[in-house]
Amino acid sequence: MKLKHILAAALLAVGLSASAQTIIKFSHVVAADTPKGKAAVYFAEKAAELTKGKVKVEVYANSALYKDKEEMEALQIGSVQMLAPSLAKFGPLGVKEFEAFDFPFIFDDTADLHKITQGPVGAAMLSKLEPKGIKGLAYWDNGFKSFSANTPLKAVADYKGKKFRIQSSKVLEEEIRSVGGIAQVMAFSEVYQALQTGVVDGTENPISNFYTQKMHEVQKHLTITNHGYLGYAVIVNKKFWDGLPADVRGQLEDAMKKATIYANQIAQDENDRSLDGVKKSGKTTVYVPTKEERMALKKAMAPVHTKMAGRVGQETLQQFYSATGFDPAKL
Ligand code: LMR
Repeated sequence: MKLKHILAAALLAVGLSASAQTIIKFSHVVAADTPKGKAAVYFAEKAAELTKGKVKVEVYANSALYKDKEEMEALQIGSVQMLAPSLAKFGPLGVKEFEAFDFPFIFDDTADLHKITQGPVGAAMLSKLEPKGIKGLAYWDNGFKSFSANTPLKAVADYKGKKFRIQSSKVLEEEIRSVGGIAQVMAFSEVYQALQTGVVDGTENPISNFYTQKMHEVQKHLTITNHGYLGYAVIVNKKFWDGLPADVRGQLEDAMKKATIYANQIAQDENDRSLDGVKKSGKTTVYVPTKEERMALKKAMAPVHTKMAGRVGQETLQQFYSATGFDPAKL
């Protein structure tokens, strides 16, 4: 080969590697117009800015790429690089400690929650994902769940015999059983239709999910129970992450820090805005339980804590209890 050809080939190679862009596919199951959906787009923008275009994050909302269970498998084999599954999704993966987040009434408010997600207990839990080939980067808030159905849900007896869609979680199954309901595990993307056709009678969701999936069109009653928490861990395929050049990884960590602040700032507002939307639609009656009604629900669900303690492990549960001050024995 002539020298000029060698030079041309070398220049081409340098040019190619300089312009090669890393693509991160970020898949999730909720609408773009939710706390998670907005934070994912925000992260994509920050990633492009901080890596100066070396990384492009492609966000796929509304289960466009994968449904609940499939997305975790896709991440582990590397077909998708980044996800933000709800914390309930890690129990079925075999990291049972995460099921503590599903315990009813374990958090009084977001301040309680942050003692876990922004402290050492939360960080230690994320590190338990590593043997599964998953690197946990951050916790993103959504909010507290409320129950909906086509009939009013005021007294505990109103839940009896009703079929409620839940995420795949043994703790959530027990929660529904504790009020005499029937739990039905189902992928998030199938809930609207299941409610519409009567396959299930009701469901539990933060209002941002309820409204953006248009569940208010197919549920006549929503009771603001705030009985349990639903939020996320942002995760990446560990091999992919460890294989990134250190400077790029650092820039992405920075982008993630910024996106996490943003996510946790907007979560409450997004849920409030969605509640306004539900009310304005006039299709669902929104009911705020009395103190006594909410306490009755809390008492009915208290046995879930003792029954399910063994799954999560006493150590984790005690860490949660000492952070939040919740004591099921005191109910
Ligand atoms: C669900 O299945 O209800 C949730 O995991 C959806 C979400 O917010 O990701």
